[in-house]
Amino acid sequence: MSTFAAPEGPFHAVCRVPGDKSLSHRALILAGMATGTSLVENLGPGRDVTATVRALERFGVELAEGTIQSAGVANWLPAAEPLNLENSGTSLRLLCGVLAGRPHRTVLEGDESLSRRPMRRLADPLQQLGATVEVSREGTPPVTVTGGSLRGARIAITVPSAQIRTAVMLAAVQAEGTTLIDSPPGFRDHSERWLTALGLGRYRTATEYEVGPGPVPPAAYRLPGDTSSAAFLWAAAALSPGSSVETPNVSLNPGRTGFLDILSGMGARVERHATGMVLGDPTGDVRVTGAALRGTLIAGDSAARAIDELPLVGLLAIGAEGPTRVKDAGELRVKESDRVASTVTMIRALGGDAEELEDGFEVGGSQPIRGGTVEAAGDHRIAMAGAVAAAASRSPVEVRGFGAADVSWPGFGHQLEALWSSH
Ligand code: S3P
Repeated sequence: MSTFAAPEGPFHAVCRVPGDKSLSHRALILAGMATGTSLVENLGPGRDVTATVRALERFGVELAEGTIQSAGVANWLPAAEPLNLENSGTSLRLLCGVLAGRPHRTVLEGDESLSRRPMRRLADPLQQLGATVEVSREGTPPVTVTGGSLRGARIAITVPSAQIRTAVMLAAVQAEGTTLIDSPPGFRDHSERWLTALGLGRYRTATEYEVGPGPVPPAAYRLPGDTSSAAFLWAAAALSPGSSVETPNVSLNPGRTGFLDILSGMGARVERHATGMVLGDPTGDVRVTGAALRGTLIAGDSAARAIDELPLVGLLAIGAEGPTRVKDAGELRVKESDRVASTVTMIRALGGDAEELEDGFEVGGSQPIRGGTVEAAGDHRIAMAGAVAAAASRSPVEVRGFGAADVSWPGFGHQLEALWSSH
């Protein structure tokens, strides 16, 4: 299915979204590093998470229904052949962090999109800990990691990237001595919270996190739903005044909830209730009800806290009253696609008026979503945003390359159809 039509009227639904992708990678890798058996519930079903599973199997980690058994990272088998992480930047970067502590040479590569993504930002801090990390002349994969005995250090990370920060932490738990990571705030801190709960680290200040040596203990990871997947359903409700979607038990990490703040700033009704914690990381229920939207300005931390949801902000901005400007989001340029370009192209294809900025985009607003053909550009988040546009579209929306959605949410098209018919 790749053509989506508008719902016949307002919809009201309670939807359980798949397990969180960011947390799935972290749970799998931490459980694979521990010696013994860990429990992992509600793993994300997408192709990215499967890429991490396959890599761990190559290292000798045993994954069965709900449990992960490992002889510990010190006993991981060397991977003689290159590891192909397909579309998954999180798999590749986090695994490079772990492999920095292993005395082997491992080559990590990916698909065409991953082969364009920047890796010097990863290589530099891992080298400061003592690993050798080679990338292509353009600074992209394949990445060759030759690890070994690491020494704790003070590492400053200038790019606002949770993946890089996490990679450094996964190396640092294998180092001799402690490591102090200093980086800008504003993004998801799942790894910091989990390492703290596992007794492996602590915040020294708001931007400095100290990691002590391991070992990583086995643990129970009961994963909440994916906030960034739920965001597509929230956006569908926000585009359809009078409709509502409730998503129980999703991650409410403060680095993930920026889109909820943006939605309420644009005029949607947002209700959220914290219900629990998974190893110190908050979870809860969210309900979004659609209403007339107005344009907005997104900058600074607000952009970082909603980085994966900014294509949806662009989509909502088309029909919102007045213009929208998203800036300080240069990281969009190096996601699964150049998401500044792919978001602007999507908005124009739907009948909106948008311009690229170097570090974001502008949308004119106050225009109906006309419908048309959206190119997924090999990017799961653009594919799903295109489908969601149907919620407010005059004519159907065709998404070319909709299969890209499988990277994070196989079956998303059916979920959207079910949503349209929930009353
Ligand atoms: C992720 C961090 C973010 C995000 C990505 C997942 C993670 O990337 O865009 O979808 O799980 O740590 P960056 O670390 O490059 O900002």
